[in-house]
Amino acid sequence: MAGRLAGKVAVITGSGTGIGQAIAIRYASEGATVVVNYLEHPEQADETKARAEAAGGKAITIQGDVSKIADTNRLIDQTWQQLGRCDILVNNAGIEIGANFWDITEADYDRVLDVNLKGAFFLTQAFVRRLRDAKRPGRVINMSSVHEDMVFPHFPTYCAAKGGMRMLMRDLAVELGPLGITVNNIAPGAISTPINARMMANPTELNALLANIPLGRMGTVDDVAGLALFLASDDGAYVTGSTYVIDGGLMRNYHEQ
Ligand code: NAI
Ligand code: BGC
Repeated sequence: MAGRLAGKVAVITGSGTGIGQAIAIRYASEGATVVVNYLEHPEQADETKARAEAAGGKAITIQGDVSKIADTNRLIDQTWQQLGRCDILVNNAGIEIGANFWDITEADYDRVLDVNLKGAFFLTQAFVRRLRDAKRPGRVINMSSVHEDMVFPHFPTYCAAKGGMRMLMRDLAVELGPLGITVNNIAPGAISTPINARMMANPTELNALLANIPLGRMGTVDDVAGLALFLASDDGAYVTGSTYVIDGGLMRNYHEQ
């Protein structure tokens, strides 16, 4: 199939829902074969696969917990075994746990850091080792957040993880540039997905948030997928070491409630 990602293979973590799902479908519509990674709901991954195929691409599903190094290695190994290559990695899987700072447990700290940061770190390592051995170029796209840079009181674990992702991206852009591998972050603002379900169900919180967004609406998953396509496509070939904010202007106009 023709398209801006024709012939490419892309792994997108946590792509049974939300932003990851939209990216998988968009990539497939541009000719990529997509690997739909999911944690515990195969039916969600199957839905992404069906929609990716309906969009004209190919898709496979692979279960794996990105916070477990054995799983990140297996995800890349199975991709190469089944598809013979892997050109694009989207580190999209993420979680947030809100709490007063003084109530945060070690288990919650570990979970948020392990999924959002350690997972991206070691999955990228497995991805890069294969490319280095095969002498092939690649693209790494991390789903960071405006909170890699902007405060999010009551979510300090999330900020620590996304802030770490910001410097991880910058570091790897330099180290991996000579291998022809680009590394960039996407920093969404408030996007309408399951991660925001609680907030979106509370009109007071939702309206307060919307008042902070100059464009006056939450972002859609398709807004983010378009940017992820740019970074994976030939148009993004010379972009590395950057964070692309996509937030309707939120970062320039944020007030804590
Ligand atoms: P979501 O909750 O729909 O997506 C997160 C996905 O990650 C889910 O499919 C979930 O099953 C998966 N996941 C969680 N733990 C995992 C694990 N250990 N291994 C594999 N997969 C796992 O929410 P959304 O919004 O689509 O989130 C995607 C990314 O976007 C996250 O990294 C999030 O931090 C980031 N983001 C989201 C924003 C928003 O407003 N929705 C704004 C900024 C960043
Ligand atoms: C968080 C969302 C939040 C958004 C804007 C994202 O990183 O995951 O819950 O609405 O930032 O604050």
